[in-house]
Amino acid sequence: MAKLFEPITVRGLEVRNRIWVPPMCEYSCENRDGVVGDWHLVHLGSMAIGGAGLIIAEATGIVAEGRISPWCPGIYNDEQVVAWRRVTDFAHSQGAKIALQLAHAGRKASTHREQSGNGSVSIAEGGWQSVSSTSEAFDGYTAPRELETHEIPVLVQAWAAAAARAMAAGFDAVEIHAAHGYLLHQFLSPLTNKRTDEYGGTLENRAKFVVDVVAAVRQAIPNDAPIFVRFSATDYAEGGVTPDEIATVAKWCAENGADLFDISTGGLITGVKIPTGPGYQVPFSETVAERVGQPVSAVGQITSAEQAEQILQDGQIAVVMLGRQSMRDPHFALRAAHELGVEIDYWPIQYSRAKWPKN
Ligand SMILES: Cc1cc2nc3c(=O)[nH]c(=O)nc-3n(C[C@H](O)[C@H](O)[C@H](O)COP(=O)(O)O)c2cc1C
Repeated sequence: MAKLFEPITVRGLEVRNRIWVPPMCEYSCENRDGVVGDWHLVHLGSMAIGGAGLIIAEATGIVAEGRISPWCPGIYNDEQVVAWRRVTDFAHSQGAKIALQLAHAGRKASTHREQSGNGSVSIAEGGWQSVSSTSEAFDGYTAPRELETHEIPVLVQAWAAAAARAMAAGFDAVEIHAAHGYLLHQFLSPLTNKRTDEYGGTLENRAKFVVDVVAAVRQAIPNDAPIFVRFSATDYAEGGVTPDEIATVAKWCAENGADLFDISTGGLITGVKIPTGPGYQVPFSETVAERVGQPVSAVGQITSAEQAEQILQDGQIAVVMLGRQSMRDPHFALRAAHELGVEIDYWPIQYSRAKWPKN
């Protein structure tokens, strides 16, 4: 039995295998109302058909101004809950589990999508004023407004309300987005957090926002529903966050009810050199896994069944996530089972003739 196909239980959630799909923005809520539609159903649904264990749906705004772009989904009203329910029901009908990434883009909010242009969407074009730990702009974007201290607990509560809505929408778990230069990462990194209030300065202060979010989300969802947190373990820049610091923050999050850490890197600033290659982020995941007694996932240029299996065999990593490979091959898990000769009982009946290509 390949490790890839061993079930895993995280808190109260049993997942059929360790081939997961990480969150991927689709910029496809055409009405700019944060309501998902057919694209999301088919895109995520095809990965559920394709045997993925758990799919994390894309960065979804906890408030309207937290969306990355006007075309990104939200989870701040009832219409959005109903629309997401269609997606989660279908994923469950295929035996997959599905989580929602709860996000606030901070100073990287209100941006264009690839087909609409570059940089920020202006207020005149239907964009909005972004907010951040700082008033310094992300390269090429409009400057954010620095959040006042009293506004931060309001956002913490918005995260909790969004998590409760995610549960109402049928999601099995939530992922708090604290990576890729979005709001919680902006607070975590000394490069973008020069605050003098209780949310700036020491690591404990810079981590207060994300730790408070984890604690509030824990209160807002059932005890058996898992919380994942995605971190960038490095900013690839002098003076940025380090893997050791992130491992410490992950521990604090675990003490407040987080269950699994999804380790990525980068995204905070431009102009840095990122040494990419197959599995390039795995060592960062391993550093966090060594320090934190919770499951940790690995993501980034994992593309073949053999490579994915080897990462799990090495022992530290609990789950692999395949992003772009899942877009190229939404039925990756079925094909991996076929390639590794693993018998699984979740080939869709409609696809059973593809199981063994006898003729
Ligand atoms: C189109 C696209 C959209 C993405 N959107 C998100 C997102 O919403 N949230 C997030 O945390 N990461 C996002 N990512 C990063 C992926 O989750 C993943 O970490 C990255 O693509 C590296 O994995 P891969 O090499 O398997 O694709 C996105 C990546 C792509 C390609």
